[in-house]
Amino acid sequence: MGVYETLFRFASATHAYMGDAGTHPWAQGFPLTTPVPGGPPLPDSIAIGAADRMYPKADGQVPLREAIARYYRDHYGARVTAENVAVFAGGRPAIFAILAFLLEDWTVAVEETEYTPYFDLLKVLRRPHVLIQSNGTNRFRPSLDEHPPGECWFLLKSNPCNPTGVTMAGEDLRKLVAAYSAPGRGALIDEAYEFFGDPEPVSALSYVDDIDRTNLFVVGAATKGLQVPGMRVGWVVAAKAHIELFRNYSSFAMGGVSRASQLYVTGLLEPARVKQARSAIAAFYTGQRRRYGEALRGLGFELFTGDGGFYHWARLPKGLSGDAFNERLFAHKAAILPGRLCDMARRGDQGPLGGMIRFSFGPLSPESFEQDVAILARCV
Ligand SMILES: Cc1ncc(COP(=O)(O)O)c(C=O)c1O
Repeated sequence: MGVYETLFRFASATHAYMGDAGTHPWAQGFPLTTPVPGGPPLPDSIAIGAADRMYPKADGQVPLREAIARYYRDHYGARVTAENVAVFAGGRPAIFAILAFLLEDWTVAVEETEYTPYFDLLKVLRRPHVLIQSNGTNRFRPSLDEHPPGECWFLLKSNPCNPTGVTMAGEDLRKLVAAYSAPGRGALIDEAYEFFGDPEPVSALSYVDDIDRTNLFVVGAATKGLQVPGMRVGWVVAAKAHIELFRNYSSFAMGGVSRASQLYVTGLLEPARVKQARSAIAAFYTGQRRRYGEALRGLGFELFTGDGGFYHWARLPKGLSGDAFNERLFAHKAAILPGRLCDMARRGDQGPLGGMIRFSFGPLSPESFEQDVAILARCV
């Protein structure tokens, strides 16, 4: 249940919903939904006509699919068209569909420390998987050498990684893409936090030569970088043959995605606007990452955070567990995500991630910093 487990515990301890006014939602993975400094405005309305009240297309409205393909061409030189894009109701439904349709004799390889829902998805879909070591021993930075050799491996990886923020970029990312583009291999590269990079956003699509000859699935979403988690729009960029499969899936299981949401997100991807959004988000959150990092380090946390995302991934001081720390934070209407919920083997507080926390600065405005640090200081 991941984050929801923490939300329910928080609600019963504080009688408030995390994210409500007066709470400190450090467990939650949403961004600010108001413009960041230097960022473009977020529209308050969209015009809807009779055609927009009709059923949506199964794989997404053409203008949105074209806007997404163009975005990857403009910023990463990707050789993709609208036919390489399928639209989903958020990033998670896209991830679910990819894993649900994976051939039975393929095994998933997933890092030991990853995005909490991956655990639930692999379990519900009864998907055999192996873990790639990602813990304090390698500072949560597994190299390609630590991946399983051979064929029929399907990599499931968030990049930047949630919870660690560790981001594979440059030559390392090029090699990863090459390794999983080989015949008999495939990968889901989940780029939900693409914009939140230091010094700049990265995408695996920079390194894909001909996506139609691969089993690579790059997942993006309007949820984080475009600051609209409530719109529920995500997408997959993949070979045309795979996109066709999603079209069938959507027609019998999802029914497409709200046209209103698609219209809204198409507007957010207007080329000049999205260019501004990318650099403003990267700059603002890099600043937030730095100052919360310094504060946490000053309080005795051991930081393992990478250069991306909007989380700090840290070991608590004094041998505290994430759950014990939350009990203290609840008194201040605050909570973090206990590290054990990012353990893909769910070994609990006694496992290697029992003393780790994920601290989210995604939803925090610049003004809350002093109060946040004061609460953290009282609780350690
Ligand atoms: C790693 C990762 N992937 C995908 C998502 C997609 O989220 P959504 O389904 O809200 O678009 C999230 C959101 O928390 C995430 O952290």
